[in-house]
Amino acid sequence: MDDGRRAIKRLASDVVNRVAAGEVIHRPANAAKELVENALDAGASTIHVQAKEGGKRLLSVQDDGHGVRLDDLPLLCERHATSKIETYEDLKTCASFGFRGEALASMSYVAHVTCTTMARGAAHATRCSYADGKMDRDGAKPCAGVPGTTISVENLFFNVVTRQKALKSASEEYAKILEVLQRYAALRTDVAFTCRKQGESRTTLHAPVAESRVERLQAIYGPAVAKDLKTLEFDTATSKKKFDFKLKIDGLISGGNYHSKRTTFILFINSRLVECAPLKRACESVYAAILPKAEKPFIFMHLQLPFEDVDVNVHPTKQEVQFLHQDAIVEVIQSKVEKILLATNSTRSFTVQTLLPGAERLGGGANAETSGDKENSVRDDGFGVTQAKTPKTTQREKAGGDHKLVRTDANLAAGSLDAYLQRAMNSEGKEHEKIQEVRRAVRERRGQRVEADDTYVCELTSVRELNEQIANAAHRELGEIIKNHTLVGAVDGRKGVWLMQHQTRLYMVDAVKLSEEMFYQITLRNFANFGSQALERPAPIPELALCALKDKFAEPNSWDDADGTMEQVAEKIADMLAEKADMLKEYLGIVIDDGRRISGLPVMLPGYAPEIGKLPEFVLALAEDVDWTDEKACFEALARVLGTFYAIDGAHDDVDDDDTNGTKESPSLRVARLVVFPAMKRRLLPPRRFADSGEVVQIACLERLYKIFERC
Ligand SMILES: Nc1ncnc2c1ncn2[C@@H]1O[C@H](COP(=O)(O)OP(=O)(O)OP(=O)(O)O)[C@@H](O)[C@H]1O
Ligand SMILES: [Mg+2]
Repeated sequence: MDDGRRAIKRLASDVVNRVAAGEVIHRPANAAKELVENALDAGASTIHVQAKEGGKRLLSVQDDGHGVRLDDLPLLCERHATSKIETYEDLKTCASFGFRGEALASMSYVAHVTCTTMARGAAHATRCSYADGKMDRDGAKPCAGVPGTTISVENLFFNVVTRQKALKSASEEYAKILEVLQRYAALRTDVAFTCRKQGESRTTLHAPVAESRVERLQAIYGPAVAKDLKTLEFDTATSKKKFDFKLKIDGLISGGNYHSKRTTFILFINSRLVECAPLKRACESVYAAILPKAEKPFIFMHLQLPFEDVDVNVHPTKQEVQFLHQDAIVEVIQSKVEKILLATNSTRSFTVQTLLPGAERLGGGANAETSGDKENSVRDDGFGVTQAKTPKTTQREKAGGDHKLVRTDANLAAGSLDAYLQRAMNSEGKEHEKIQEVRRAVRERRGQRVEADDTYVCELTSVRELNEQIANAAHRELGEIIKNHTLVGAVDGRKGVWLMQHQTRLYMVDAVKLSEEMFYQITLRNFANFGSQALERPAPIPELALCALKDKFAEPNSWDDADGTMEQVAEKIADMLAEKADMLKEYLGIVIDDGRRISGLPVMLPGYAPEIGKLPEFVLALAEDVDWTDEKACFEALARVLGTFYAIDGAHDDVDDDDTNGTKESPSLRVARLVVFPAMKRRLLPPRRFADSGEVVQIACLERLYKIFERC
């Protein structure tokens, strides 16, 4: 009886191979990458690429490398046949691009492949064609040629119609091929590269062997890129700071005078062209904070890591690798980029074009200056909804279609909910707001740099261990969300309930808990490296302690007189803290003067001070919650107490509740929005427990909402 179940059958090998081929070769640019890598593996010093119809009709890569041994020709396109590794262990030390023996095989299953090869000193070249992994029956034939190898791939996807249809126009496919070649050319300055469309004498890429990478980048991308490149070099081996990993960076990044609307991010890890979204985002965020919003960077980076730290076998197209210490490495690079940019930001130059006599001044003087900004400026459509003025279609395309359109824009201060509410504010106020925000962000970043100066590291083992615990307990996805969120606004500022958006999802977060954790982490990261801010009026500890005790034991009979009176206990607390004054100052920047008064508090974030009304609780917590006998436990508790003290706190706000139109933002909400949340992006490593205990809760997903609306 036919019950709908079908028997399991082994797939024919040609089906298996064609399926596998589809994983390796998606489009002509993948084939170009594989062929160029083979040429480089063969020791080529010149590589010529030609493409017809964007590589769909023909893609040919000619090199002057060592050529293919004639005996090897029958195996050239056989799956899993390679000359580059022999055992799985070889992968650990594999320095060649290839190792799977799959690239040419894949091509031969979805295209017609021809190889012409000639060893140096041979009398002639040899040519043979391949289909479905095998050499043609005609075998290899002698022919005229030059030393090296030329592989031609014709009629890509002739037997996979869906793939063929999915390819873009010839010019788009050609652009992708060119992009791949440009990137390899950027890396290998010792190899000459050319690329042209077949039948055209003009090359689209002409990169002769270059003396330096800047010279090479100029040949590839033109002088606009090359003239403003800053060197990013770093080596853990020569760094003053100690690292748990080995890393060498050789990079060039654009400075403040480079103008582009698109990021170019070229990343090689151990010479492999790879993608690393977190690193790209981290670099972009630094540029976004320091340079004018519309400017996107050009970044070339070659990271060298120990082979054993990198797993190259994680993606069929080899475009991804996994490497150890990713977060720490991203952090190091981010701070290096930041350092370079802050140094260059002060020397920004502007090109001024002289107006021809009689030419009309566009918009005139000051207006002309701001005209570029108008593109990104915000308008109020009368319903309190602020929108970016960029053409709608572009926005939609960028957002990946209507269902992914989101209301807020991470790059606009106006994207936050508060901006939507502040209808009362005039446009001048808004402008001023924006400028202030940018200034603050830059100031904060400068401050961070000073505080998080990578030449500083706390030598205490206990602190190092606590910092390691933080890193080990970090929740990666949550970290991504925090790092790349757009703040929507406060739902209930007094309770610390805020909304943040990440991509198409909306999250409700407990800002008090988040900031508490961030200040805990800042304390440990900056341990023994705090500056202090002086209190306007030093606060006497006995009074603070007494106040806190009275508050805590307000209930009748809750105080046990066996400990003495509250005044006596408050005096004891003051004495005990005065005894610890040196240590508190040196490690935490808490200043206690001779009169047993707190006269200074640590600067955790520039522009941020804790709610002074919490000072009594803080003093009591120092006395009650800290175990002063065990070093590690003591430092951990001190950091916790400081975390609680510095956490944002809407409860102490004295905003008029009768401000009925709800448009007024309290000072603490403002500081939270402008200082604390931006700082979280870089400073907070959210622990795993946050994912379970409600500190961050996803409350909506835009795609799903659209589905619901569609049904309605
Ligand atoms: N341009 C070339 N010059 C010399 N030998 C080549 C060239 N291209 C390919 N070969 C030889 O053909 C073999 C198969 O190449 P193929 O690209 O299919 O596999 P691979 O490079 O070994 O591994 P991978 O699939 O990871 O690229 C190579 O191992 C190499 O010996
Ligand atoms: Mg290969």
